[in-house]
Amino acid sequence: MTKIISGTDLANKLRAEIKEEATILQQKGIIPTLAVVLVGDNKASKSYVNSKHKACLENNINSVKIELDENISTASLLNEIEKLNNDSEVHGILVQLPLPKHIDAEQILNAVSPQKDVDGFHPINVGKLVIGEAKLIPCTPLGILEMIKSTGDEIDGKLALIIGRSNIVGKPISTLLLQNNATVITAHSKTKNLDSLLEQADIIVSCVGSAHFLTGEKKVKETVTIIDVGNNYKDGKLVGDVNLEEFMEKVAYISPVPGGVGPLTITMLMRNTLTATYDLLEK
Ligand code: GUN
Repeated sequence: MTKIISGTDLANKLRAEIKEEATILQQKGIIPTLAVVLVGDNKASKSYVNSKHKACLENNINSVKIELDENISTASLLNEIEKLNNDSEVHGILVQLPLPKHIDAEQILNAVSPQKDVDGFHPINVGKLVIGEAKLIPCTPLGILEMIKSTGDEIDGKLALIIGRSNIVGKPISTLLLQNNATVITAHSKTKNLDSLLEQADIIVSCVGSAHFLTGEKKVKETVTIIDVGNNYKDGKLVGDVNLEEFMEKVAYISPVPGGVGPLTITMLMRNTLTATYDLLEK
């Protein structure tokens, strides 16, 4: 029987733990604080930022929104980041992507203090992830790992197939699963014989960004866990990379869209904000 991995239920469980920790910090007079920087008025970005803001406040994490004009220069934005880096009351900084085209995004992400980099996008944190020493790890991959672990199945020695190699999801989840002793294959648009890899995989993570990229015609193991990271619109409806209906009763575990990875990403952002808070307190 196929079991649905509910990201919503798992997120609620983890959020209760986060809220308890944040409340204890608040009782000690420490207010864990996330600063979210939003440049311009991209509708999707605004909606993501509002969801992050709301979730933080619901879980006793302070959230500060810094909304900046679309036409801000890279230099002025760098100046804003520097202010947040130097603000001892701010523990986590997130710069919402994508940034407007005229801004040098790489320069901006590199300017965020690695200790406050709750996205885990700074090259120092990326490097630390590769050598297994990262404290701040990108939120979506952390959420995916929680979902896989929630099945209770061992990851050790399993063949994990990651489809997609983005810096935000594909590469970091490949690295995380490798650290959890999976044998990892990272597939991408130039990969040959994806079908034969799908047949062998024990864990499949699809982060392709193409509506219903994986259909029930694909042969997969009956014991496979499928995590769908897709966030695509088809006929005005949010759908994943995986046609879930077509895999029902054919696989062991599958995550839905919506209600899958999405709620976990925001949960891990709050987890990272607490991690950054503890880390800064130690210094
Ligand atoms: N835009 C879409 N996803 C993300 C994310 O994980 N972090 C940031 N900063 N921006 C995003």
